[in-house]
Amino acid sequence: MLRFLTLIFPCLVAIACLLSDSALAQVETCTGIVPFRYRNDKISITDFGGVGDGKTLNTKAFREAIYRIQHLKRRGGTLLYIPPGVYLTESFNLTSHMTLYLAQGAVIKATQDTRSWPLIAPLPSYGRGRERPGGRYMSFIHGDGLRDVVITGENGTIDGQGDVWWNMWRQRTLLFTRPNLVEFLNSENIIISNVIFKNSPFWNIHPVYSSNVVIHHVTIWAPRDSPNTDGVDPDSCSNVCIEDSFISTGDDVVAVKSGWDEYGIAYGRPSTGIIIRRITGTSPFSGIAIGSETSGGVENILAEHVTLYDVGVGIHIKTNIGRGGVIRNITVSSVHIENARKGIKIAGDVGDHPDDSFNPNALPIVKDITIKNVWGVKVMQAGLIQGIKDSPFTQICLSDINLQGMTGPRSPPWKCSDVVGAAHQVSPWPCSELSSHEPGSCANYS
Ligand SMILES: *[C@@H]1O[C@H](CO)[C@@H](O)[C@H](O)[C@H]1NC(C)=O
Ligand SMILES: *[C@@H]1O[C@H](CO)[C@@H](O)[C@H](O)[C@H]1NC(C)=O
Ligand SMILES: *[C@@H]1O[C@H](CO)[C@@H](O)[C@H](O)[C@H]1NC(C)=O
Repeated sequence: MLRFLTLIFPCLVAIACLLSDSALAQVETCTGIVPFRYRNDKISITDFGGVGDGKTLNTKAFREAIYRIQHLKRRGGTLLYIPPGVYLTESFNLTSHMTLYLAQGAVIKATQDTRSWPLIAPLPSYGRGRERPGGRYMSFIHGDGLRDVVITGENGTIDGQGDVWWNMWRQRTLLFTRPNLVEFLNSENIIISNVIFKNSPFWNIHPVYSSNVVIHHVTIWAPRDSPNTDGVDPDSCSNVCIEDSFISTGDDVVAVKSGWDEYGIAYGRPSTGIIIRRITGTSPFSGIAIGSETSGGVENILAEHVTLYDVGVGIHIKTNIGRGGVIRNITVSSVHIENARKGIKIAGDVGDHPDDSFNPNALPIVKDITIKNVWGVKVMQAGLIQGIKDSPFTQICLSDINLQGMTGPRSPPWKCSDVVGAAHQVSPWPCSELSSHEPGSCANYS
């Protein structure tokens, strides 16, 4: 717990600073993307026999409470209140027009009985489970085809108790792909706020084929060595806003995706209109990532005011041969990095394939990427831009970037290949492929 508190402390400090900043300037927020709903109708999990003793299995209580919400259809929807206590349960489905409200001290805890965990179909844009062929385990908290759902409260906790799953991964005994902690499929008007997500078996929050999703003031925590515990992965989604959150996990802090190789190309659903703002994060892998599964395309992404520390790669755009898809109009600005293996990486050779049927001629297109106002200290290598020979990355613009090394004032040089673009006031100087341009020039190249 102490370790956890020391980890969230920088977040609290960051948020406090933001709050004092907001007195000076109007702070942009996600407000308005999803209409706010006040729920007159309120029920408590205890009305359905819920027991928060940490031992009683509450699956029936959750399913019955949600069944009641779904079938009674109260005007304006219903709030399901989770009082303080530890509510152990198997996975469950949410329904439309509901708020799952976790009081202060409320914990919804996933059972570790992996044998009875339900299986669902693979995502069509992945063709199979992400880590094992065939179906995949349903997410702990699941929503398919929903609208108007809120998960919020007073910073109660959703605890995936993922260690049994991580151990199955380590011992290679997983039969199917591990469950995400929270997943919304084909859904719209979703708000997730003021909740702590802890120890997800796999990715933490996975909105997929969804639109109008707002995630703010959340804390996501998983040990650094926990496998694939990505923070938030918007996947073939539009209009997603993630802000004012602290994310410390074992894999990418935020990764925007859109399907995997031939399956993602056939499904053809891009991720577009995604804002990532005022996030503090740490991870042995990437901070702000696009990819590597980007076969439906990723465009119109803005990440700004991001603080990353003890991170593998600060800003990472990753794709591969066979992915296809277009990655374009990506802006990353105002990023602080402290202690990273690499500051910035844009590469066309990252990630694995679902099977041998991927098309080696399906080359991704990466263009119109702007990265500006990045400050880093203790960065082992400033950057790497490695395009694809027959599909070079174009309109890559870097400006006002200063990345200091582990010891000296400058980190070791960039490496570039198969890339065309511009750079302005970048230290250390990136590479000859990015010719120098006038101040504020990124706009002229997008
Ligand atoms: C939950 O949703 C999944 C996927 O939509 C479905 O397969 C499953 O039957 C649902 N489970 C319950 C208990 O309703
Ligand atoms: C919950 O946590 C967020 C983010 O750390 C913080 O901004 C908010 O004030 C907290 N809310 C409550 C009710 O404690
Ligand atoms: C590029 O993306 C931004 C969001 O970051 C959006 O506001 C803008 O309209 C997009 N530009 C084009 C030409 O689509």
